[in-house]
Amino acid sequence: MTQRTLAVVSAGLRQPSSTRLLADQLAAATRDELVRRGDTVEVRPVELREHAHDIVNHLLTGFPSPALREVLDTVTGADGLIAVTPIFNASYNGLFKSFVDLIDSDALTDRAVLVAATGGTARHSLALEHALRPMFTYLHAVVVPTAVFAAPEDWSAGTADGALRRRVERGAAELAEQMHRRAPSTGPADPFALTGDFEDLLDGLRRDA
Ligand SMILES: Cc1cc2nc3c(=O)[nH]c(=O)nc-3n(C[C@H](O)[C@H](O)[C@H](O)COP(=O)(O)O)c2cc1C
Repeated sequence: MTQRTLAVVSAGLRQPSSTRLLADQLAAATRDELVRRGDTVEVRPVELREHAHDIVNHLLTGFPSPALREVLDTVTGADGLIAVTPIFNASYNGLFKSFVDLIDSDALTDRAVLVAATGGTARHSLALEHALRPMFTYLHAVVVPTAVFAAPEDWSAGTADGALRRRVERGAAELAEQMHRRAPSTGPADPFALTGDFEDLLDGLRRDA
């Protein structure tokens, strides 16, 4: 039985947020799939609106608050990531992009990611393919094939047995499979970690002295 962590980032601005609702459904379905595979799962939700001011401050100063540092470590140290944004002007919203801009460009390498979005019209569902997927691919993450979009009619049709439910389950199964087949995460990368053996470093210093 392997312990996995699943970070769930949600960039909705309203309260209550349909983006958060979709994120929660994806998280629950992924947890179920991992448990079916024999893993134990810790789900770590990240509601970006709670960190909006810290995100802007980090963009301007180059330094995160302790709370935002914790959030960034949660995301970069997790075994898997569910990233959900509302679609604004046919793309991810500004809060979502600003947060991703703060993630070190190597920190998500080979990380299993499921992308999802909510929107006012299903006509903009392909924003997942032309905006979110390429961005995470640029960050060398492994984005699962199914991207989940929820339009207003998906909610009004009910979520228990509708098309949205099937997309959620398919995306969750793909994410769980990618997480399950990888070695467990060792946590966020330490920027101060030694890049070589300590004795070798000392030998080098002695030679230079
Ligand atoms: C400034 C703004 C721009 C938007 N642009 C789009 C858009 O281009 N396409 C779309 O489908 N929905 C668009 N929407 C609607 C939101 O994506 C939709 O209401 C979303 O589900 C809100 O998520 P929330 O409930 O988590 O806040 C826009 C909403 C706002 C406020």
